Amino acid sequence: MSPLARLATRAAYGATQLPRLAWYAGHGLAMQRLAAAARERAGEETQRRRRGDNRATVPGQSRIYGDMAELFGRDLANVEDGIYPLPADHDGSWVTRLYRSRLFFSDLPDVHKRRQARRHDEVADDATRGTRPDYYLQNFHYQSGGWLTADSAQRYDTQVEVLFKGTANAMRRMALPPLHAIFKGRDQRRLRLADIGCGTGRFLDFVKQAWPRLPVTGIDLSEAYVKHARRHLRRWSAVRMLVAKAESLPLPDASQDAVTSIYVMHELPPAIRRAAIAEGARVLKPGGRLVMLDSLQRRDVPDYDGLLERFPQNYHEPYYESYLDEDFAGIARAHGLAHVQDDPAFVSKVMVFEKA
Ligand SMILES: C[S@@+](CC[C@H](N)C(=O)[O-])C[C@H]1O[C@@H](n2cnc3c(N)ncnc32)[C@H](O)[C@@H]1O
Repeated sequence: MSPLARLATRAAYGATQLPRLAWYAGHGLAMQRLAAAARERAGEETQRRRRGDNRATVPGQSRIYGDMAELFGRDLANVEDGIYPLPADHDGSWVTRLYRSRLFFSDLPDVHKRRQARRHDEVADDATRGTRPDYYLQNFHYQSGGWLTADSAQRYDTQVEVLFKGTANAMRRMALPPLHAIFKGRDQRRLRLADIGCGTGRFLDFVKQAWPRLPVTGIDLSEAYVKHARRHLRRWSAVRMLVAKAESLPLPDASQDAVTSIYVMHELPPAIRRAAIAEGARVLKPGGRLVMLDSLQRRDVPDYDGLLERFPQNYHEPYYESYLDEDFAGIARAHGLAHVQDDPAFVSKVMVFEKA
């Protein structure tokens, strides 16, 4: 890349990422203020101190901002190295962003009430019971509608970006370099990728930005999220979306060059997590890669352990504690997948496995 092109790339990157960061970090600050006011009204702060919740070690603000800056530096370096093009986050027009912002803020009081009451079973009712596995029918994160409604799908990406202070998409993109490593020099039209628990399709969008002609399959158990993803990805060809379970993939054996899964493993009960990895291994071709991106685990970056331990206190994350100590390399090995690398990226990490 010429010095001029590098300068233009950096300017364009800053011009898109900085306002985005400010937008979501601003939402986060506003949300913290609202939550603090609500807790104060309920006297919860005092109870927290009594329970000793504040003893856990957490990284300071400067460490967090430093790690965020490093993440964006890596994202930009990947662009400059030609691993993927300058990313387009596709947050929608300002009208869409404002609409989603309103949806996000107007839901906070209900989320707060559920959190206060530790109530997370609203979505399991007569209409839904039996249509999905029981473990799935919960208000994960205390969010309204759980994974089941169109409004939940509309709110989801704002919620995730606010939680991660505007870094969620940049973290998702950290799963692209291990794909580039096996895709480079090959005819993308002949490769196949399946994204498991694809949600609203944001990761698949970045996959298509990097490999527009790659046939991809998005799989998720939520009809509402799959519908949202279909709409989000409609500008791309060779995209197939299926409503199905990670633990029972509707894909033939040895049919995929890559299987990806982003922020899904921590949402699954241990037995389902194992079954999902077994399924990923089954559908991979020999030499294919399973690339999972999810939260850091305990001891990955010891300074962050306190932050990880606090997470399920504020969000309904019933399987997160078991996720923190899960032996992913061991599970993968049992299904014929060799561990290639673990790569921390701010509060996430990329785990890469390869089928022999
Ligand atoms: C935290 S979201 C992650 C979505 C997306 N991958 C992303 O990058 O944000 C978890 C997703 O996993 C889906 N999911 C949870 N359990 C599943 C299962 N057993 N099979 C398929 N999808 C599942 C949910 O519907 C939800 O869309």
